[in-house]
Amino acid sequence: MSLPIHRWFRYSAGFAAPWVEEVLSEWYIQPGQVVLDPFAGSGTVLVVCDSLGISSVGVEAHPLVARISKAKLLWECDRFRVGAFAAEMLRRSQGQKPDISSYPSLIQRSFATEVLKTLDSLKSAWLSLQNSSPESELVWLALTSILRLASRAGTAQWQYILPNKTKRKVIHPIEAFQRQIETMKSDIRWMQAKAKRSLAQVVTGDARAFAESIPQKIDAVITSPPYANNYDYADALRFEMTFWGDVAGWGDIHEAVRRYLIVSSSQHSSRERLKVDDLLESDAVVPIRNELSNVMGRLAQVRETHGGKKHYHTMIGAYCRDISLVLRQLRLACKPGARMCWVIGDSAPYGVYCPIEKWIAQLALAAGFKCYRFDKLRDRNIKWKNRKHRVPLKEGLLWIEG
Ligand SMILES: C[S@@+](CC[C@H](N)C(=O)[O-])C[C@H]1O[C@@H](n2cnc3c(N)ncnc32)[C@H](O)[C@@H]1O
Repeated sequence: MSLPIHRWFRYSAGFAAPWVEEVLSEWYIQPGQVVLDPFAGSGTVLVVCDSLGISSVGVEAHPLVARISKAKLLWECDRFRVGAFAAEMLRRSQGQKPDISSYPSLIQRSFATEVLKTLDSLKSAWLSLQNSSPESELVWLALTSILRLASRAGTAQWQYILPNKTKRKVIHPIEAFQRQIETMKSDIRWMQAKAKRSLAQVVTGDARAFAESIPQKIDAVITSPPYANNYDYADALRFEMTFWGDVAGWGDIHEAVRRYLIVSSSQHSSRERLKVDDLLESDAVVPIRNELSNVMGRLAQVRETHGGKKHYHTMIGAYCRDISLVLRQLRLACKPGARMCWVIGDSAPYGVYCPIEKWIAQLALAAGFKCYRFDKLRDRNIKWKNRKHRVPLKEGLLWIEG
């Protein structure tokens, strides 16, 4: 997270910018060609492409995450205007009368009172100044990105916020904000010395149905989808969304975010009351139906021995269906002979092994791609419900072509 622009917002990117650059160079991707990331997240692939003068398209279904990646691509703006907007916002914030009484308890518990008052004044000042300019959006990103630095709440693995755990190092919001603005100005200058303008486009939309919304034909895809490991991407930025008033609490997250994402958590599959038979009848899972049905059956059985709580059986079925739909869209969007690299991991909910990379490969062939290869990167072990199972897991690169 020390690279210019990439460092503007901390997010579970799935891979590092230098690796993306290596892959593009190995593939001889040149200016004029188009690279796609259907799970664009905070836009790592797009920012790398911009730095190399290569056109790119990103699809991201989480509205706040898509807004963050769009803001990062505004690096061609005038950095002095960013500084001036931020200075005016700071000036105005001093005259605000903060009112922190209406913030939900997650926010109240995560900040010291004086800190929250300062953040509320900054927010009100931004709201009074906001317009559709790049500087307005970049300063919004600066404020959004310092919330965790100014919070006393701990952050769990990945990005879940833990208001009951306090952390030692908290940075004063004004100091953090000013530092962030200076970092952004310096990164804008760095990028403008490398490239003239952004050639990236972010679609706030669903990777399961994006092909018609992009006019370009795609030469190459680099992506890291959510893994089927119960990590809830919808919940990852609940803290920031709650601060801005986009959601009032956990209960709003499904409607505001989760329902737009592919199913990769048991919260998602249980909330949508998915049915095993419906999932197995979907023509999207035909190529892996027998093995998937077997695994779903075992998960349903094991679930009974765990009090019938987690809906991993339908999570896995829906995950495969959704990934298959994404692969079909990719086939429509890609040129013949396109290359793809998926950073992917397998999973074992309740200790039942799911050969995810093998299934994705089979679904890719069924979608019309010609061949694949899997390179293991590392072994990993995952804790399910704080209990380690012994099923060996791995993470690696799935190269797909055709
Ligand atoms: C591993 S992250 C990708 C991170 C990305 N490589 C980056 O640079 O930040 C997976 C992303 O897929 C997004 N996602 C989940 N379902 C989606 C869908 N149906 N369409 C598009 N994006 C989706 C999640 O919101 C999440 O940001």
